[in-house]
Amino acid sequence: MLVSVRRTHTCGALRTNHVGIPVVLQGWVDAARDMGGLVFLDLRDRHGITQVTVDARSPEEAREVATRCRLEFVVEVEGEVVLRSRPNDRLPTGAVEVVARSIRILSRTPPMPFAIRDDAQVNEDTRLRYRYLDLRRPSLAQNLVTRHRAAQAARRVLDALGFLEVETPVLGRATPEGARDYLVPSRIHPGSWYALPQSPQLFKQILMVAGIDRYFQIVKCFRDEDLRADRQPEFTQIDLEISFATREVVMEVTERVIDTLWSEITGHGIGEVPRLSYAEALSRFGRDAPDVRFGLEHVEVSDPLRATEFGLVRAALDAGGICKVFRVPGAAGDTSRKVLDQWAGFVKPYGLAGILTARVGEDGAWSGGLAKLSESEQAALRAATGAEPGDLLVGAAGPAGAVHAGLGALRVRVARERGLVPPGVFRFCWITDFPGFEWDAEEQRWTAVHHPFTSPLPEHLDLLGTGREGEIRAAAYDLVCNGYEIGGGSIRIHDPDVQAKVFATLGIGLEEARAKFGFLLEALAYGAPPHGGIAIGFDRCVMLLAGTDNIRDVIAFPKTTRAQDLMNGAPAPVDARALAELKVRNTV
Ligand code: AMO
Repeated sequence: MLVSVRRTHTCGALRTNHVGIPVVLQGWVDAARDMGGLVFLDLRDRHGITQVTVDARSPEEAREVATRCRLEFVVEVEGEVVLRSRPNDRLPTGAVEVVARSIRILSRTPPMPFAIRDDAQVNEDTRLRYRYLDLRRPSLAQNLVTRHRAAQAARRVLDALGFLEVETPVLGRATPEGARDYLVPSRIHPGSWYALPQSPQLFKQILMVAGIDRYFQIVKCFRDEDLRADRQPEFTQIDLEISFATREVVMEVTERVIDTLWSEITGHGIGEVPRLSYAEALSRFGRDAPDVRFGLEHVEVSDPLRATEFGLVRAALDAGGICKVFRVPGAAGDTSRKVLDQWAGFVKPYGLAGILTARVGEDGAWSGGLAKLSESEQAALRAATGAEPGDLLVGAAGPAGAVHAGLGALRVRVARERGLVPPGVFRFCWITDFPGFEWDAEEQRWTAVHHPFTSPLPEHLDLLGTGREGEIRAAAYDLVCNGYEIGGGSIRIHDPDVQAKVFATLGIGLEEARAKFGFLLEALAYGAPPHGGIAIGFDRCVMLLAGTDNIRDVIAFPKTTRAQDLMNGAPAPVDARALAELKVRNTV
């Protein structure tokens, strides 16, 4: 204990074994009940709540001050711990109370804009505007505790595994993670700009060349992209890089870190983590970050339907598309026409015209669009999906991307609606063998699916520069939990010749590559060890561990989906003099 601190205990500490001892508590007034001659004050800090009683046993002065205490005043109470005549089972401190000997008001406040309670109905904008009050709510304070414990656990396990924590610059050059950069103008070099790091990718690779064989950093990354419930413009990664690493090594280290985090916070490890190839994930779940906590797996049925007379399906297959279905057990009877219409509307934004359905009757007969399939085609689908009387089949036909995405999203919606998602369960999986390159039809060029420093699988290196780049699989892997991508990494290219070929594939000419990443190419030429790594999305991990689906709940001062800080007003205009100094002009 720190000897100079007046507070003897937190507001969450006192138990029956403290009865009879003098204490000093400091905290916020969570409740004040004045019953005339008897005042109860609930004193709260981030550790808990303790009841303070001010009655005939307290001096007159303390009783007078108690009547002036209002909600959220900051007070200091000196008193003695006594047993409560009527214990409160809902509070960990509920067996005792503190009889006040003196009360000091340390700070006052006007009435609160909202009640400091977890169950208070307040819109998020108001909470973010007064974030300091929001963070007093027990659940948010608890999320910060969870975040802290997770960060400490990660540091402990990585330190034990021989990793060195190295900080890398925030003012740097553009890194190609695929989002827009946040840019910072240079005053000293007018016209030149720093880019905030989208990740420390290039620095960590260079640290490998520098001989720092196991690097990690819990690091802020900045990406100017469209925001969602699980995305922030600045977010935190547990970033790793390992020399002489194979994919197995990176996965083993990552599983160790994640297992430590989950064991520390939930008390349960993560168990065996299954691996799925990217192709398998798309085929079975429709997305590369599948939620594997429930079934409703997709089945590809393009082959048995190739010659079907059912025009809608036939047209999609003839156009090079695919057809997939999934079985919703026992849903034939209780899924209304209206719900099916809602599901059909739901898949439209994914590029599908609608859904195909069949209710399997008690006699085995089908009704719905898929009933247009021939007997033998129905039999093939029955065999492929295991459909039984009472089940509902849901499917779609169209371009592969649209079918995967539409049915992938619908699978999750149906699972939620039908209560098939088990609560309190975490299911992890690795996704491997991502495509290395994706054709950008708009720009008419290949783009890197992970990033340009990711190595193709060794057996696919020969395909570079042959026009068959679409077949190349990358030595990249993502870690997924409950449908969230919580980490992504790869084995890197450590051979400058291969790196040059990849740049060429991406349409990055030698000059451009030199200009943008010359320092990396140069470093790789000076004896680069083979290396690979990963970055774990720390906010997303804490979000899962805290049991919320809103990333803002686990960040002390988050931004809105419009990238604003409602408390301090960022982003904000700056004065003309500052711009002039930077030789920057506003055009809006
Ligand atoms: P990647 O871009 O996959 O990889 O990012 C790694 C992980 O970071 C998390 N993440 C985010 N979390 C919150 N808000 C965001 N805007 C956001 N963007 C990403 C995700 C993701 O899995 N340099 C590579 C890593 C490597 O190759 O080692 C990289 O940054 O959980």
